[in-house]
Amino acid sequence: MELTAADHRIPLSDGNSIPIIGFATYSHPNLPGDEIFPTDENGNWIFHQTNLCATWEALEACKDAGLVKSLGVSHFNRRQLELILNKPRLKYKPVCNQVECHPYFTQRKLLEFCQQHDILLVAFTPLGISKDRDWLSTYSKPLLEDELLNSLGKKYKKTAAQVALRFNIQRGIAVIPKSFDPKIIKENFQIFDFSLTTEEMKSIETLNTDVRVVHLPMLSDHPEYPFHDEY
Ligand SMILES: NC(=O)c1ccc[n+]([C@@H]2O[C@H](COP(=O)([O-])OP(=O)(O)OC[C@H]3O[C@@H](n4cnc5c(N)ncnc54)[C@H](OP(=O)(O)O)[C@@H]3O)[C@@H](O)[C@H]2O)c1
Repeated sequence: MELTAADHRIPLSDGNSIPIIGFATYSHPNLPGDEIFPTDENGNWIFHQTNLCATWEALEACKDAGLVKSLGVSHFNRRQLELILNKPRLKYKPVCNQVECHPYFTQRKLLEFCQQHDILLVAFTPLGISKDRDWLSTYSKPLLEDELLNSLGKKYKKTAAQVALRFNIQRGIAVIPKSFDPKIIKENFQIFDFSLTTEEMKSIETLNTDVRVVHLPMLSDHPEYPFHDEY
């Protein structure tokens, strides 16, 4: 399908649609109490015993009650997606899965699985940079300094960031870059007036390092921590 600056919505499997590029809105939650993430006497996080299928059923009830339009998931790996997709008496499939995705972490296998099941992949941290230091891996290469992305940017009179975003939308992935700078926000949306060739897309795919920026180390003992599996 042809995506343009004026028409850049992509259909979801439930009949709704979302823009292929969106404003990112996350900020630290302001919850009542002293501790947003309570810990035990050893400093380990205290977790809920999550039952993903029961949670999904509660979300289905929210949709039936007209409280939400569409249901999606985030950080789900293949096993967790299959758990929902194969759930007995499933009423609504997840329409999207929001995960980290950019040229250094291309999510090829998860993308293929999602596309086979009509689940839209939504890319967070699509520029490989995150401000949230608590969530990060110790090692991450600065994506926006990448030689190939910068040389393609030069060719198309775009920034490395715009090339990275365009790469994902050309793969059918929605992107949610976040910036507090109005000039940068505008710039991040100017990705509909150029197109990467098939060869250029293939070259960018080879940049994949399989190293995620956001790996949530404080959750690694959680029974549903998604990153112990390959994808
Ligand atoms: N599902 C999840 O668990 C999860 C996890 C992480 C993120 N997210 C979602 O994804 C959104 C985006 O996350 P994020 O990790 O990208 O946000 P972030 O932590 O705010 O990091 C984005 C960084 O990129 C910079 N930036 C943005 N555009 C740029 C450009 N064109 N050139 C250079 N620097 C640029 C921003 O700087 P300036 O502000 O200075 O421009 C900021 O430092 C979040 O708001 C949230 O909604 C979800």
